[in-house]
Parts: sequence; C-alpha cells; structure tokens
Amino acid sequence: MSSDSLYSKAKSLFPGGVNSPIRFYQPYPKFMSLAQGSRLIDADGREYIDYCLAFGPMILGHSRKEVVEALREQAGKATSLGTPGPLEVELGERIRSAIPSMEMLRFTNSGTEATMHAIRLARFFTGRPLILKIEGGFHGSHDYALESLPYGNLEDPTQRATIEVPYNDVGALHRAFEKFGRNIAAFILEPVLGNVGVVNPNVGYLEEARKITEEYGTLLIFDEVITGFRSSYGAYQNVADVKPDLTTLGKIVGGGLPIGVFGGRTDIMGNVSPAGRFYQQGTFSGNAMSMAGGISTLDILKKSDYSNPASQADRIALEARNAFSKAGIEVRVNVSGTMFTIFFNGREVVDAKTAAASNKEQFSRYFNGMLERGIFIAASQMEASFLSFAHSDGDTRETIEAIKSISENMKP
Ligand SMILES: Cc1ncc(COP(=O)(O)O)c(C=O)c1O
Repeated sequence: MSSDSLYSKAKSLFPGGVNSPIRFYQPYPKFMSLAQGSRLIDADGREYIDYCLAFGPMILGHSRKEVVEALREQAGKATSLGTPGPLEVELGERIRSAIPSMEMLRFTNSGTEATMHAIRLARFFTGRPLILKIEGGFHGSHDYALESLPYGNLEDPTQRATIEVPYNDVGALHRAFEKFGRNIAAFILEPVLGNVGVVNPNVGYLEEARKITEEYGTLLIFDEVITGFRSSYGAYQNVADVKPDLTTLGKIVGGGLPIGVFGGRTDIMGNVSPAGRFYQQGTFSGNAMSMAGGISTLDILKKSDYSNPASQADRIALEARNAFSKAGIEVRVNVSGTMFTIFFNGREVVDAKTAAASNKEQFSRYFNGMLERGIFIAASQMEASFLSFAHSDGDTRETIEAIKSISENMKP
C-alpha cells in the first residue's frame, strides 16, 4: 500500500495520522517500511539516505547484523520477564563504567519517563518546589518539562512550577538563582541543545551551571537522552568534564528498542523504591529485548572510532556553508560531533530565540529538496541531523551534491 493510502487510513486512526507529532509533514509523511544501514525505503519503494535515524538512536545504522542477531537470540529466550534478569546487570554495568557519575541507575521505557522521574526524585530529595530548565530545552512530553514559564514571570516561588532561562546566558542563570535559588530542586538541561537544532554550550557555561547549583544546593540534571553515546563512548559530561548529580539517557542505549535511564549519586538514587520511599515503577522497565539491543550496541560502539561519522558531519557542514553562501543564502551550520543542524539564519545560533529566528520558508524548501533527492532529515528547522557508522563516503558525496543542487534552486 502506498504512503498516501496508508495516510488516509492512518488519519482516522491516529491524531494527525501519526503517533508522534514531529513525524508529520505536509502534505503527508512518507510511510517507511524498511530500514537498512544508512537507508530507509518507503511504502512506495523509494530509497532515502537517513539523517533522522529514528531521532537519534540508530547510531550503528539500521538493522546492524550483530544487533539483529542478539535480538533474534534473545527473542527465543525471553522477551519480557517482569523479574530481575542478568541482562539488566550487564547493561547497567556498561553504562556505569562509561558514565561514572551514574553510580546507581534505574531503567525506564522512554526518555520522557527518565526525565519525569529524575525531576520527581529531585523534588523528593530536596523538598523544594521549583524546577529550572532551559528555554527551548526538551525533556519529553510530561507537564514538568512542557509547562514552563520565563523565571521572571513566577509570582509564588513556593508553588510547584517549572521556570526557564535562556541557554548560554550566565547572567540570566545568576539572576534566576539569586531570586529563587533556595526553592529550586533541580536545574535540568541538555548539555548540548538538540531540540532547537544543535547548539553547543559556550566555553564555561556548563561549569558555571555546576558551580551555581552546588552553591544553592540544587541538583544538576544532565539530560543526555540525545548526547549519551552519540559523539563519544560515554556521555557529553565526560567530554565537558562536568559531573552532574543525576543523568538521564534513552535512545542509543536501547540499540533501537524503547528505553530510558535515570541515575546518579548513590545518596539520591538510594531513595528509589524499594530501597527507599520514592515510588517509581514500570511493567516493561529493564525489558529483556531493550537490554539485549543496548548491550550489543554498546559493545560495538566501544570498539568504534567516532571520528569517522564526526568527520562526515564536518564535511557536510563545510560544503553546506560554501554552497549556500555561493547562492547568496545565509546559513549557520552548528556541529557537535556526529550531529549537525543547518540553520537558515544570518546570525549565530546560540539559544532558542536565535534558533527560532531562522527562515522557516527556506528550511521548508531545503527539507522538500532533500526529500525529492532521496535524503531524509527531520521535518523541522528545530531538529538535529544525525550521522551513523553505516553512512559511507558515497552517502556523504551524494548528500553534498544534493545540497549544492538545492542551494542553486533556492538562489534569490
Ligand atoms: C533531550 C531529550 N530528552 C528526553 C526526550 C524524550 O525521550 P522519549 O522520546 O524517548 O520519551 C527526548 C526525545 O527526543 C530528548 O531529545
């Protein structure tokens, strides 16, 4: 069945025809039926180089042989136990040795759950009502992370609320803490923003976040759902050399199966039930298939050289800057290791506001141009593109040629 007939059925089944809003684009999204290596194949049989990679997890490429074998083998042994099992210990040990700040951890089924429980736990541990986050930072779809207001608009600091500051703005961070610091349970942030497109931290920003949270007794939570194992084996905190109190993970650590993790200091995690009184549970938590996918993925990643996909990201970024500048179109291309975003923007993109000022119409022409040329990226300016270990030099060349041709067509 073709994408358009699938979509006409899907839209009566699912709101907007999709099971996650970012998957939708006009006039209707391609329904993908096969994913192999760096490629997706849609229901109409068309092939695409995939830079969305299921929004990050598929860092080894789709259907990597060793992962598929591990899953096949596990499916014959147990899919869901509902009891403790050896694979939880195996994956837990791998994560802790790669991210030592995660002294104890708990598996969940999604990044949303991981951040929700990390935030709940921070409130439980500190007895404080407020959560501070970054403007435009995304931590999944629950109210603690979705319903936020600029910190200056908060009237009653004893009420439970989530307030926000702009990313990379040390002054705003200080003002927020001076005003509300003793009421802030946790400061949660993606160390590299991924959900307004890729935005790197300014030198010293994460260190400042660590310093000020320590000063006010606020827990620092790094949401590494995207950045975990994305650009190096471990988390961005290792690269930045900043140690948070709690960390959340998801995406890559499940090897393409549903997963989330929250973890951190033993004195905090030791409160989680049944060790302590903080209640948190999940029927599928530590699911055997997700564990098997995660173990086999991390074992391959541990032996892999991230500089290969990272240099492909650099090359695409460089060529995109040249091509669009030759065509007289202003772009800023932000790169962080194996992920990048082309912003149609004449100014440096350093936070949510500067990202949002990008030219959406130009992005839309770029997105559709890529799709027409057999290249699939997330359908929003405010998303990252991801490289995998399955992307070849040929894929990079094809992508650069597509960008050159699109930039020519977009000439004002
Ligand atoms: C940084 C970050 N945190 C949390 C989440 C939520 O994870 P999930 O979609 O697995 O619920 C996402 C999802 O993209 C994310 O990017």
